[in-house]
Amino acid sequence: MLTEAPLSLAYRVTPTGLYLISTAYEGKRNVQFAFRALGLSDDPPLLAIGIQDGNFSREMIQKSGEFVVNVCSENQLHAVNRSRDLSGRNVEDKFVALGLETLPAKQVRAPLVAGCHANVECRVVQEVKAGELFLFIGQALAAHIDDQLAPVGRLAGNHAQPDPSARPAARSAVFSGLQSHRLGCLSRRGGAGESQQARASRTPSRAG
Ligand SMILES: Cc1cc2nc3c(=O)[nH]c(=O)nc-3n(C[C@H](O)[C@H](O)[C@H](O)COP(=O)(O)O)c2cc1C
Repeated sequence: MLTEAPLSLAYRVTPTGLYLISTAYEGKRNVQFAFRALGLSDDPPLLAIGIQDGNFSREMIQKSGEFVVNVCSENQLHAVNRSRDLSGRNVEDKFVALGLETLPAKQVRAPLVAGCHANVECRVVQEVKAGELFLFIGQALAAHIDDQLAPVGRLAGNHAQPDPSARPAARSAVFSGLQSHRLGCLSRRGGAGESQQARASRTPSRAG
């Protein structure tokens, strides 16, 4: 049954994926989780990411003009809760702090996160300020895909782990876990495994 939901949930009703955005500038590297990422066009190959104004990653992207969109598989889920309220400003190397392995990129300085479904190296071609968020449009310079590692889906703050029996070609099967969500569950915050403490400490502007 279709029911009215609060407007504060409106931006969470679109199913998305789980991404790690990696950056590098003048010898410092950083990484942050994001669910706001979208492929926009084929030719030129464009992707958009939404990064909060206060994030260290926003500064790194603006200074370097580059970023990598790493499309998470279940291999990166262990780092989600650890990443909450952890900024690259306060740690020497956030990849190490989050236990994420890296690989060198081909066209940009920011590293690829190892063990992802895909990694897309991007150069910023446009930025738009939208409220407290910067929308960065990046042109893909190189893309890497591992069909053996299915991407993770995300809806309303919950993630869906890939169905291991799904064939790589049937990517929509990855979202089978999300299809069971009813609108009522949009008021629930956080995915399975999220700690009470993490849920309580999270503010809407930093919500994942
Ligand atoms: C699952 C998840 C999804 C998130 N999605 C976004 C997002 O799309 N955009 C964003 O700016 N922050 C998002 N965040 C919050 C950032 O990851 C968080 O603010 C991070 O600490 C910023 O790190 P930095 O200061 O090192 O850049 C998300 C967090 C989680 C856990």
